[in-house]
Amino acid sequence: MAVYSQWNLRLPYPTHPVSGRRIAPADALAEDTVSHARNVQQLSRSSARAPAPPETSPYVLVYGGSTACGAIALQMIRKSGFIPVCTCSPHNFAMVKELGAEEAFDYHSPTCGDDIRRYTSDTLAYTFDCITDLGSMRICYTAMGRAGGQYMGLDPIPLRGHTRRNIKPDYVLIYTMFGKEVQSPRPFGRPARPKDRAFAEGWYRSTQVLVDTPGEVRPHPLDPSSDDLEGVVKGLDRMRKGDISGVKLVYELTR
Ligand SMILES: NC(=O)c1ccc[n+]([C@@H]2O[C@H](COP(=O)([O-])OP(=O)(O)OC[C@H]3O[C@@H](n4cnc5c(N)ncnc54)[C@H](OP(=O)(O)O)[C@@H]3O)[C@@H](O)[C@H]2O)c1
Repeated sequence: MAVYSQWNLRLPYPTHPVSGRRIAPADALAEDTVSHARNVQQLSRSSARAPAPPETSPYVLVYGGSTACGAIALQMIRKSGFIPVCTCSPHNFAMVKELGAEEAFDYHSPTCGDDIRRYTSDTLAYTFDCITDLGSMRICYTAMGRAGGQYMGLDPIPLRGHTRRNIKPDYVLIYTMFGKEVQSPRPFGRPARPKDRAFAEGWYRSTQVLVDTPGEVRPHPLDPSSDDLEGVVKGLDRMRKGDISGVKLVYELTR
């Protein structure tokens, strides 16, 4: 969940060449999710401006390519010189391919992980998991090549899912980019990470041009509602029921 416009969360460092610009909800979502894409960049520690060419395998798996985070990740991975493949439901295959996925795989299939491993010729070394539960980890770990690599989740990792020693698991929390301690109960609390802030400053500088250039980054399709604050509660219920697919719920608060 995120809050924008007059309640916009300001970054502690300059990011915008145009000061005082009013950000439309769709643009705000693009900016927000591009910021999430830094998690993808942390997989390879390359910068958006000067992507490191892939040394071994060009593939990056985005588990959950139709999530709001995954949809932006697909685009940023492409722009970074890698080839994204992803999982999602078949009705979202066309959408994720338009965003840059070379191939999409149905995570409901019992052979999903094996299919990805075969498609990537047993070389997949980077996985970005936008779901991060036991089921998603199992598929990601099956998909990764025999040499292992880096698995990055967006939520705390269920330790039971870590079943291969040559895979390095980690999970990122966007809030460390502010360079301050994250004061939340475990497993979310984290000490200040000055390196994350330094990385975020560079990342925001290098991606701002993409956000400001029309058509460079496609924000996730919106599912807007005029239901105000009560709508948010209904939206949370929809999320719990798994009733959201390939869209971002938006509620404009008027009161
Ligand atoms: N660490 C951080 O800093 C950070 C930041 C932002 C978000 N997050 C986390 O990232 C996750 C994704 O957030 P989001 O807003 O991007 O999600 P979202 O857009 O709400 O996700 C909806 C999508 O999830 C997919 N999905 C649901 N269950 C799935 C499963 N079991 N396996 C594969 N796909 C599944 C559905 O795909 P199909 O319809 O195609 O089946 C649907 O399109 C959340 O858990 C959120 O808490 C973490």
